Amino acid sequence: MHNIAVFASGTGTNFVAIASACAAGVLDARVAVMICDKPGAAVIDRAGEMGVEAFVFDPHAYASKVDYEKEIVKILDAKGIELVCLAGYMRIVGETLLKAYGGKIINIHPSLLPAFKGAHAVEQAVAYGVKVYGITIHWVDEQLDGGKIIAQRAFPYEGSDPEEVHRLGQKIEHELYVETINKLLCER
Ligand code: GAR
Repeated sequence: MHNIAVFASGTGTNFVAIASACAAGVLDARVAVMICDKPGAAVIDRAGEMGVEAFVFDPHAYASKVDYEKEIVKILDAKGIELVCLAGYMRIVGETLLKAYGGKIINIHPSLLPAFKGAHAVEQAVAYGVKVYGITIHWVDEQLDGGKIIAQRAFPYEGSDPEEVHRLGQKIEHELYVETINKLLCER
């Protein structure tokens, strides 16, 4: 049984997909902690409902990124975390976390990287008139959405409604994230 951590800032549908796969035995893992940088985010309630311990912090309550990342590293160390899954964690991972967990942090992003990096990937892709959208899972390094790609899945969409792209993409995200975590844990 592997211990994994999920980091999230928002709704938490990917968190739920991962934690459900653990609970159902689809993944030989448990989400030992959910880390959230947004007090009040919906994902905190989802963690409570699923019996997953949450560490919620307000970055503004710390003097620096180094300070809150040091605290996160302590928690990850205490839980024996083997893999960190960023799932809508809208914050750039800093040097403290990368130094301690580099090579063990993955992220899911709603575009076919290296196209459309950043926080508004879907909106930018729609504005560009993209016809083939996609999801990327990649290793996290010091660059924004820049680490080596682990998995990608594309889907066609000819319309111009970002909400619909989000909906179509999220269905793929939930499947692809669980499949990819499974593959990475099996390789360990
Ligand atoms: C996901 O669609 C994920 O791809 C995106 O945030 C969403 C979180 O949804 N991440 C990024 O844009 C990272 N740059 P969720 O809270 O429902 O899992």
